[in-house]
Amino acid sequence: MLLNIEGLSLAVPTDQGPRQILDDVSLHVRSGETVGLVGESGSGKSTTARSALALTPDGASTTGSVTVDGVDVLSCDPGKVREVRKGKAAMIFQDPRSAINPVRRIGDSATERLVRVHGVPRAEATARLLALFEEVGLPDPQRLLRQYPHQLSGGMLQRVAIAAALSVDPSLLLADESTSALDVTTQAEVLALLQRLRRERGLGVLFITHDLLLAAAYCDRVYVMRDGRVVDEQPGASIFVDPAEEYTRSLAEATPRLPERAPRERPEELATGASK
Ligand SMILES: Nc1ncnc2c1ncn2[C@@H]1O[C@H](COP(=O)(O)OP(=O)(O)O)[C@@H](O)[C@H]1O
Ligand SMILES: [Mg+2]
Repeated sequence: MLLNIEGLSLAVPTDQGPRQILDDVSLHVRSGETVGLVGESGSGKSTTARSALALTPDGASTTGSVTVDGVDVLSCDPGKVREVRKGKAAMIFQDPRSAINPVRRIGDSATERLVRVHGVPRAEATARLLALFEEVGLPDPQRLLRQYPHQLSGGMLQRVAIAAALSVDPSLLLADESTSALDVTTQAEVLALLQRLRRERGLGVLFITHDLLLAAAYCDRVYVMRDGRVVDEQPGASIFVDPAEEYTRSLAEATPRLPERAPRERPEELATGASK
């Protein structure tokens, strides 16, 4: 199992005493699987994903276990955690600007991990990155290497972050709302790339989103979180068809979709342009 979270509970200290953020969370991701994690803001999605890299809040106390490729990251020694962060698992965050150094050129920032941590020669690291820039649909990759973050749009910067994360060839990708800010076309390109990597390399993806429709369309399985707990687990295809939990149903009902009863009228509408 690539990622296995078993009964993870997590509390942080506050002035009013410990505050429970995760309560008995269990989930898993196999190689080659794309697993969705959905839920409202504040439900504990990011905290869960970060635990895979042993990135828990300051002073947090945890029970349960989090293993990545068999390594229990919450209880092993720091050297092993570094190994996991180095190559096994990579995380892409929602806001790329907060994760990139604003005064360094894109080429230097994005190859840093490959060069410093993996000891890949700079020329090779750059070549690998250029290929990935093309794959995530970034125009003029050569020029991009010399640019600074402020010269790029948020969408471009996010694609840079995705390329940089993939450049170390992780087995597990933790994508925390990382395509949310992209326009629809770019998002589709990036998701297609991730699907290909999962087929070709067996990449496992934990795909965090607040977009239930996207999770249903894109993920093999979807976990639904609420108030720090996993309240439902469904095959992606079943979320809208057969939501088992009341809460999932309420999320599904709150998700805007194309009208389902339109097919009969639609061909005519399209033919006459009446839908415009
Ligand atoms: N370091 C922290 N200290 C205190 N509370 C935190 C910390 N990190 C997250 N929380 C709280 O834990 C809850 C879950 O947060 P988070 O995992 O970021 O949710 P989500 O990603 O689903 O929006 C939120 O109420 C948040 O305020
Ligand atoms: Mg979050």
